Amino acid sequence: MKHIAIFASGSGSNAEKISEYFAERSDVQITLILTNNPQAGVIERARRLHIPVVVFDRKTFYETDRILDLLKNNKIDLIVLAGFMMLIPASMVEAFPDRMVNIHPALLPKFGGKGMYGHFVHEAVVANKEKESGITIHYVNQHYDEGNIIFQTSCEVTETDNADSVADKIHVLEHQHFPRVVDEVLSSLS
Ligand code: GRF
Repeated sequence: MKHIAIFASGSGSNAEKISEYFAERSDVQITLILTNNPQAGVIERARRLHIPVVVFDRKTFYETDRILDLLKNNKIDLIVLAGFMMLIPASMVEAFPDRMVNIHPALLPKFGGKGMYGHFVHEAVVANKEKESGITIHYVNQHYDEGNIIFQTSCEVTETDNADSVADKIHVLEHQHFPRVVDEVLSSLS
């Protein structure tokens, strides 16, 4: 049995798609969903999916080993960041080498780094008059959005697109590809 922990700070649509993808699999379990945001929509989704939820604050995350210990005690094999807005502490990156992946709603290295998240990304893509955008799934290291890229796919951005319509296109790509890429990464783990 491989155990996955999903970190999310927002709505959690990707977390739900990943959970649905593995729902019938006896060899993979979404063991934990963790969030820093007590108002996150992912909490309700987790409850509906009967997945244990852990809500933590900044102090716990950065000044204690409680979250890291929780991951180890639950025998987590892979950490999935699905719209998680905090930088991962070095201790956690070191404890999960090539066992932590993130999804970014743009074609890294463009439109990445600190402050480039959610709607800000799509607004920048439109403001830049880009002809395409897309998603990037990458391993996580100690810097925002700089780990080795695992998968990218793109979508067209037209002159009639705005940040909202680009966001809709990106969500379709995320839901279509993220669960399968997570499965492929799991299969590559020893
Ligand atoms: C996604 O667009 C993802 O690329 C970004 O945060 C968003 C999370 O959406 N990192 P959701 O909470 O999974 O609906």
